Amino acid sequence: MLICIPDVLSKDEVAEFRRIMDAAEWEDGRATAGAQSAMVKRNEQLPPDGEAARKLGQRIITALTKNPRFLSAAIPLQIFPPLFNRYTSARGDHFGIHVDNAVRGDPLTGLRIRTDLSMTLFLAEPDTYDGGELVIEDTYGSHEVKLPAGHAVLYPSSSLHMVTPVTRGARVASFFWMQSMIREPHIRSMIFDLDTAIQSLTERLGRDDPDAVKLTGIYHNLIRQWAEV
Ligand code: NI
Repeated sequence: MLICIPDVLSKDEVAEFRRIMDAAEWEDGRATAGAQSAMVKRNEQLPPDGEAARKLGQRIITALTKNPRFLSAAIPLQIFPPLFNRYTSARGDHFGIHVDNAVRGDPLTGLRIRTDLSMTLFLAEPDTYDGGELVIEDTYGSHEVKLPAGHAVLYPSSSLHMVTPVTRGARVASFFWMQSMIREPHIRSMIFDLDTAIQSLTERLGRDDPDAVKLTGIYHNLIRQWAEV
């Protein structure tokens, strides 16, 4: 399931991110790629252990932990420190089809997670570059994603995905992985649907509606049954 999370960052925050990123040193994106993906990856990234990536990454995590739609969809246990990449047309940057590594370790913090969900947070407006679509394959087919700056997409790390060649301008984004408390994608998806339905029900009937209270109880009991913490 692909889930769009709008407005993770405001336009002002995106502009500030871009000022810091544009002034930073970039390195070859293959520095963090696995053996298969190194063959198909062509882009630049901020050094993961650099000050810019660490500080901006922390700001993204802080923003996400206050975002109800993200929390409901991901039910995150651990979020990997966000990485930042840039695909420019001058180099014909792209990232061929691949699956992300199942386990990621962060040498700086010692954090190690199973990658259940991947997230791409767009940091360039779609009209400033051509190409650079994130293409994600799932059981319903192939989906092209290109969102306004500040918006993000959440997708299963198990899915094949790619970034198409950039033919004009520069595609700038942050991307990262997380381990969910709910490992099974279909169960996480049902719990998300239930939560969404409860939110819409309580908007109409109020939080103290007896049936809404019962359903909220069921929501928490399902999490209690399935969560790994
Ligand atoms: Ni990937």
